[in-house]
Amino acid sequence: MTADQQKKAAAVAALDYIQPGMKVGLGTGSTANHFITALADKARAGFDVECVATSKQSFELARRLGLKLTTLEQQPRLHVTVDGADEFDGNFQLIKGGGGALLLEKIVASSSRFMIVIADQSKKVETLGKFPLPVEVVPFGVNATAWKIERALRILNLQGKLVLRLKEGKPFVTDSGNAIIDVSIGAIPDPNRLDNLLSIIPGVVDHGLFIDICGIVLMGTDEGVRTLRKE
Ligand code: A5P
Repeated sequence: MTADQQKKAAAVAALDYIQPGMKVGLGTGSTANHFITALADKARAGFDVECVATSKQSFELARRLGLKLTTLEQQPRLHVTVDGADEFDGNFQLIKGGGGALLLEKIVASSSRFMIVIADQSKKVETLGKFPLPVEVVPFGVNATAWKIERALRILNLQGKLVLRLKEGKPFVTDSGNAIIDVSIGAIPDPNRLDNLLSIIPGVVDHGLFIDICGIVLMGTDEGVRTLRKE
């Protein structure tokens, strides 16, 4: 099975968790796109759900496929969010934001009774951090925010290479108008402490560590979809 086939199988398996009448958060990325497509197929056959998208990109896909869309303003509590991840570890902690949608993804997932991550098996890691950690920052004073991120890493005896994310040669702009600094760390032995230290830096809007938000991972493998549940 290719990684994309594993992503698709995990996305289809997530449909089992969706009941009629549910308010569903839609993630962002290639795996989430498989879920949006599968859910839209089901909705076209008469299955009634209302969805909140985590990015312009997911909103557009869901709209085009005819899914009923609402907003967190109208529906501030959702039943479930289904989203991909860049990495997940054995404690169900995640790195997300490779696609730049981490802020809205975290707001939507944390507004849901539970979050299901759908992923191919390459996303499972022993220790988070191989994937560069996206940190969403206010564009004002971006270099001043950067040295405070470096200082937070030093407190944890970590070293990171910070790179301002670019798109077509210009700073990448998130759906909320912010910039992203990708921080290559290598291994994050204590994601909770890093979460705390990054969250208090002025100028950091949010970061891609999802701590204690995800309860279920559906992981596509060559042998089928494995369900991993947090105790
Ligand atoms: C989007 O900002 C990310 O959090 C994605 O969920 C993550 O990058 C996974 O992407 P793929 O499903 O494309 O691998």
